[in-house]
Amino acid sequence: DLSAERRLRCMLEHLVPVEISRVNPDRSVCIFPTSEEYKDIVQVPGDFAKKALLSSRSQYEQLYNEAVTNPDGFWGRVAAGFFWKKLWDTSKPVCNYNFDADKGPIFVEWFKGGFTNVCYNALDRHVLAGHGHELCFLWEGNDPGQSAQLTYSDVLKKVCQVANFLKSKNVQKGDRVCIYMSMIPELPIAMLACARLGAIHSVVFGGFSSESLAGRILDCKAKVLLTCSAGRRGNKLLPLKELADRALEICLRDGNTRVETCLVYDNSFALPREKVPWVEGRDLWWQDNVSQFSVDCPVEWMAAEDPLFMLYTSGSTGKPKGLIHTVGGYMVYAGFTFKHVFDHHPGDIFWCTADCGWITGHTYLTYGPLFNRATCVMFEGVPTFPHAGRWWEIVDKFKVSILYAAPTAIRTLAAQGDEVVRKYSRKSLRLLGSVGEPISPKTWRWYYEVCGDSRCPIIDTWWQTETGACMISPLPGAWPMKPGCATLPFFGVQTLVLDQEGKELHGACEGYLSIKAPWPGIARTVYGDHSRYESTYFKTWKGLYATGDGCRRDADGYIWITGRVDDVLNVSGHRISTGEVEGALVSHPQCTEAAVVGYDHELKGQGIYAFVTLSQQAKPSDALKKELQDIVRKQIGSFASPEVIHWAVSLPRTRSGKIMRRILRKIAARQYTDIGDTSSLSDPSVVEALIKGR
Ligand code: WT7
Repeated sequence: DLSAERRLRCMLEHLVPVEISRVNPDRSVCIFPTSEEYKDIVQVPGDFAKKALLSSRSQYEQLYNEAVTNPDGFWGRVAAGFFWKKLWDTSKPVCNYNFDADKGPIFVEWFKGGFTNVCYNALDRHVLAGHGHELCFLWEGNDPGQSAQLTYSDVLKKVCQVANFLKSKNVQKGDRVCIYMSMIPELPIAMLACARLGAIHSVVFGGFSSESLAGRILDCKAKVLLTCSAGRRGNKLLPLKELADRALEICLRDGNTRVETCLVYDNSFALPREKVPWVEGRDLWWQDNVSQFSVDCPVEWMAAEDPLFMLYTSGSTGKPKGLIHTVGGYMVYAGFTFKHVFDHHPGDIFWCTADCGWITGHTYLTYGPLFNRATCVMFEGVPTFPHAGRWWEIVDKFKVSILYAAPTAIRTLAAQGDEVVRKYSRKSLRLLGSVGEPISPKTWRWYYEVCGDSRCPIIDTWWQTETGACMISPLPGAWPMKPGCATLPFFGVQTLVLDQEGKELHGACEGYLSIKAPWPGIARTVYGDHSRYESTYFKTWKGLYATGDGCRRDADGYIWITGRVDDVLNVSGHRISTGEVEGALVSHPQCTEAAVVGYDHELKGQGIYAFVTLSQQAKPSDALKKELQDIVRKQIGSFASPEVIHWAVSLPRTRSGKIMRRILRKIAARQYTDIGDTSSLSDPSVVEALIKGR
């Protein structure tokens, strides 16, 4: 798309002052700060700074530089804080890698030669040291009044029972286990049980449809599926077992299934047992079977570079990629970032509101906190059920000190007004976090002033499924915040800002965000398709990891994330591929073509807008619109269903046939005066027709 490139170049050349400045000039949304907002600085509240693990930027810089110049010393020291059955080969560099495809295959290895077990480090280590009685999970159900407490010993016993069950089903090191559950403690318990045995877990978010689940089961050839009868989120019932059944049927049709066992947790709060569909011989009730197994189970000692888990994520093209994270590096990076980014102190009550189906729930609800012996709140429901004060009620109930949430939820709550927040004490809170999408300065301010009473720093944490754990974030206490800004890279993370030719930009600048050398938590490959890993992340910029995000770096060296520069949408913090949604739409027999773009959505961040052309016999109607929305729901999940269906007679294409999304984004955003150059279109009148149809 030439003209977009030209625009980018202009922007890069006239950097200061820019009013609305984004690397992706086509994004209709400007949540990006105005020049006034850029200057807004918030000092770390004094009381917080006094007790913070890190209290100055110079202290940070010293450690940051050490991590870059002496990774062996720095990461060796960090890794030594974990239990290793056998230490890594300390006579060799702690990290060995190649990011340059010209020099051979891309690979990353950390702590080579070492043996450890992630579950042992999350649980056994603490229990053996006499901390078994300390609280691990504080669970709050969807309906108020439903809650549970699990100590570290409780969790260890339950994990061992599940691990022994899996062993009885012949699950061995390296086998894949798929987990499709709602947010109940058995979900992280299942993940830890897999880690104990060295089985690779693949958690599929409960909001995904049966077809998505089937695709993931088939791709990784899972041996066992762990699910629950149903889940409840607000007033909605999630019939997980029914969806799982349909997924397993699809797998059967494919003739490829190896799923011989489906273990079902009886979540009777959500659905009575007798209403749960059942396949005799394959399905087993969790409560009836798992409890018969021993509460002791030896751990499988794993090599540092053995896979720990896989997690599917969407890119701009193709089917979702199963990213592989490995044992040693992920463990060290998840644990270490948790401690420093959240400034974790003993006694903190930590609440990450993310679902375990996403990387945030893996790293900061399960692994990271447990390595640090933290107490975690886990919530099954939604922020506004049964009332808009639910979150603050939970904060007061469990005396939550650190709250980690997504901007989309914060925006939803902000829309309900300040009163429902102020009704609750919230005095236990000392730190607030944000993750998953850019947080606008306005939302940041509301979160800071209203939710945190201007007393709690905010950490705006930027990272990705691929990075394993946090990459750019304030270390609270160490430097002043700027509302809407992720600030500085974590220890050892070498961020670069590039222009469109891949040239590194210095000082205050704007461009593409990339990373120079590996950090321990980077994903190592795409399951079953290493060349896809190489081409997605390492082909764009030679020798560098391409993040897919744009950013601006200001004069203080702070990094402002501006959003994706590819065709990935971020809807309510969910990462969605435009290509996947288009694929689902065109599978409808009456849809001939579809082009999907994002548009500014007040609550969701981005909404999904689909331009659709129909076959000659078909007529636009509300019923057809619903059919199209349903087909996306069915193939991907409700969260990916387009809000807007625009009946188009044809789509704007270049003479070579490429759809010009830039123009479609402008039309979706009603920015007609700003359509730009349409001379390269094969038929410029198409644009006129689309505007009329808006
Ligand atoms: C994409 C990654 C981070 C784990 C959950 C999402 C966007 C994430 C931020 C942030 C601006 C953010 C990026 C990134 N993103 N955090 N603090 N500020 N954008 O993981 O599903 O892999 O999505 O989320 O665009 O590339 P994910």
